[in-house]
Amino acid sequence: MAGAKIKTAFFCTECGNESPKWMGQCPACGAWNTMVEEKVATGAGAKAPASSSFRRVGSGSEPVKLSQVNAHSEGERISLNMSELDRLLGGGLVRGSLVLLGGEPGIGKSTLSLQIPLMNPQLSVLYVTGEESVNQVKMRADRLGGDYSNCYIYSETCMEDIIAYAKKLKPDMLVVDSVQTMATSAVDGAPGSVTQVRLCTTELLGFAKESGTPVILIGHITKEGSIAGPKVLEHIVDVVLQFEGDNRGAYRLLRGIKNRFGSCSELAVFEMTGNGLREVTNPSQLLIPMHDEGLSGVGIAAIIDGTRPFLIETQALVSSAAYGTPQRSATGFDQRRLNMLLAVLERRAGFKLGQKDVFINMAGGMRVMDPACDMAVISAVLSSNFDLPLPSDVCFAAEIGLSGEIRPVGQMERRITEAERLGFKKIYLSKYASLEGVHSSIETVQVGDVADLVRKLFR
Ligand code: TYD
Ligand code: MG
Repeated sequence: MAGAKIKTAFFCTECGNESPKWMGQCPACGAWNTMVEEKVATGAGAKAPASSSFRRVGSGSEPVKLSQVNAHSEGERISLNMSELDRLLGGGLVRGSLVLLGGEPGIGKSTLSLQIPLMNPQLSVLYVTGEESVNQVKMRADRLGGDYSNCYIYSETCMEDIIAYAKKLKPDMLVVDSVQTMATSAVDGAPGSVTQVRLCTTELLGFAKESGTPVILIGHITKEGSIAGPKVLEHIVDVVLQFEGDNRGAYRLLRGIKNRFGSCSELAVFEMTGNGLREVTNPSQLLIPMHDEGLSGVGIAAIIDGTRPFLIETQALVSSAAYGTPQRSATGFDQRRLNMLLAVLERRAGFKLGQKDVFINMAGGMRVMDPACDMAVISAVLSSNFDLPLPSDVCFAAEIGLSGEIRPVGQMERRITEAERLGFKKIYLSKYASLEGVHSSIETVQVGDVADLVRKLFR
């Protein structure tokens, strides 16, 4: 190694931004304390293998007229015999696509990716594991049940060997668990470093596109960001599916973050059982309260997530602040939005919540983005504040503006239909909501502003 110069650079583990110097804050994505130092090349010849492996991607192809492309061979989808997963993928797995399955450790990534071959014995699957031994995978497969006669297990972490073996075996699908344990000899650096993770993914992408084999790649997300997370890879891969919520509850939410072949932000709900993940096809039923007796601090929101309507229980707890500074905490709901809603309640309806602790929680570990949840949050806060339960057959769907006005939200018809299907009798909405084309026997209550809502709920 005489004369070889080790060159290092700093990479952001959040977004993969490269910088020659260490910085406390990543200039590209603004994250703090995410820059890590990594070797990028050693000596003069070190660049060659890295660039040659990049060159392999797309090698031998020629430009063709778009009209001459036979879309059927590429666009063909493989059904995975799991309706929710197929829906998330946009109607099945596309041949030659690279799917990144992300989530925190212990949430169920390995379980789900092993269930795919077990439920699809018609597909030959090469399951590469860099985390567990062949024995451990076998034990898990026995626990999950199913037919694994067509599934190959390969315990390996060297990317070159994996791709060479996959080319020889020509499976219908390749599963790689996980990207953080894989390494390619094209670059230096420990497995899990930004350069390794990125290059391994690029090599897998090259293999997927060249051979037409769909690849499912597992990636861990950690909160402290010491391991290069799937964020770095989002722009390389075709589809990103990510587990949300916490891994303590029974329900696991899988969300499509990106999908080159279908709509993103779709959500699928799974239940973790003693023998694997089970699809939940009617998730609204889990997210609304099981109890009939009225509890204060509960409001039901009719939201749309992705392309699906859900009814979800919003829980609020308002209590006198135990310490001088009142606490505001929201789980599954935007904290800043909660602060704004509380300010609106104070200024526009005269509720003094300044000396109160306010906690908000969404049922089932769900993270709600739909602003239609606003009115349910405010109603739950008021219900907890007065300790007056709301009727259990009432739900809400409206956004709240800064001047306290109740604003209409889109797709009212689908929200109302879902509410009716689940047995709700009354829905509160904006007085400006368009109800054209809505045919439903459910009673609608049109509300103009926050003060009007208080009058109608607690008169
Ligand atoms: P796992 O799929 O290994 O998570 P990841 O690969 O995302 O790190 O494990 C998920 C958790 O689920 C683990 O704590 C054990 C539990 N589990 C079940 O409850 N039932 C099962 O059938 C299996 C296989 C795992
Ligand atoms: Mg795992």
